[in-house]
Amino acid sequence: MHAIVVESADQLTWLEVPDVSPQTGEVLIEVSAAGVNRADLLQAAGKYSPPPGASEILGMEVSGTIAAVGDDVTGWSVGQPVCALLAGGGYAEFVAVPAGQVMPVPDTVELRHAAGLPEVACTVWSNLVMTAHLSAGQLVLIHGGASGVGTHAIQVARALRATVAVTAGSVTKLDLCRELGAEVTIAYRDEDFVERVRAETGGAGADVILDIMGAAYLDRNVDALATGGRLIVIGMQGGTKAELNLGKLIGKRASVVGTALRGRPVTGRGSKSAIVEEVTANVWPMIAEGGVRPVIGAEFPIAQARAAHQLLASGEVSGKVLLRVAD
Ligand SMILES: NC(=O)c1ccc[n+]([C@@H]2O[C@H](COP(=O)([O-])OP(=O)(O)OC[C@H]3O[C@@H](n4cnc5c(N)ncnc54)[C@H](OP(=O)(O)O)[C@@H]3O)[C@@H](O)[C@H]2O)c1
Repeated sequence: MHAIVVESADQLTWLEVPDVSPQTGEVLIEVSAAGVNRADLLQAAGKYSPPPGASEILGMEVSGTIAAVGDDVTGWSVGQPVCALLAGGGYAEFVAVPAGQVMPVPDTVELRHAAGLPEVACTVWSNLVMTAHLSAGQLVLIHGGASGVGTHAIQVARALRATVAVTAGSVTKLDLCRELGAEVTIAYRDEDFVERVRAETGGAGADVILDIMGAAYLDRNVDALATGGRLIVIGMQGGTKAELNLGKLIGKRASVVGTALRGRPVTGRGSKSAIVEEVTANVWPMIAEGGVRPVIGAEFPIAQARAAHQLLASGEVSGKVLLRVAD
């Protein structure tokens, strides 16, 4: 089979590599498209290793067709259109994945666009709902509202009947967030998000904050939280180390949680399979009802993986970036 080989951070080449086959409990997917994630850029630059035992090939999500089924797999058969959350290996013609990380392609979604769903859907549901318990009537602040994760988080939060506030860096991105259902749009380059969130909530603050900036926003995020608020940190684009004022946190009876999807175990409590099961049961119906759709900002042929990485790194794209492996 062919896959993208990282010859250097600047050279991602589509080359022949050894075939993969499904082990016990796995299915083999013939890849239609792969989603691009920020972690892929870090991995290509040698700054982020895949978890132990995972493929060294880039790619944390795909859509495609089941090409083979390993021993002890039930519920999946050859020829079914699917998408899957991976620990790695997605930038390839074929990938083997534990059956618990496979999801059907929602009827209303094109096969290749489904490659843009697993990472965002699993990240958003596991954090906003399974961890932060976001519910109807609460306000959630989503940083980077026009990102892949952000565009999905806005839609899911609205489907849960929460009020959505977002930050974004340009008018075009803020307009997209509004179109997707965000009621409070904050231009973070010009406005103070703490002041805006307080103003919009009568001084109360946000019940939940989904943060991708890490250190750079920690103190202001705690300031923006409501009493009993939950700050969920999923990205460190603004650094890893910052001072946490525990006095502010205690005073608000608030919590700060950090989470990551990729290193979770395949099965058991808090596993990828457990999240995938909840996503299929709760988010897929939202997609079927039309409340949630994949937001695809750009698509590239797989041989242009480097250009896709450059586009994501530039910040000049909203929603997901996809790599087409087969047409
Ligand atoms: N922990 C996990 O399990 C997990 C899983 C998936 C993703 N993530 C993380 O979640 C983040 C989003 O992922 P993605 O794939 O959706 O990435 P993406 O599409 O590349 O989005 C990155 C976003 O960061 C925004 N941003 C940059 N500076 C900002 C600032 N000062 N304030 C607010 N927003 C800012 C950019 O928005 P503007 O252009 O508007 O500035 C851009 O939309 C990444 O950091 C990624 O590593 C974590």
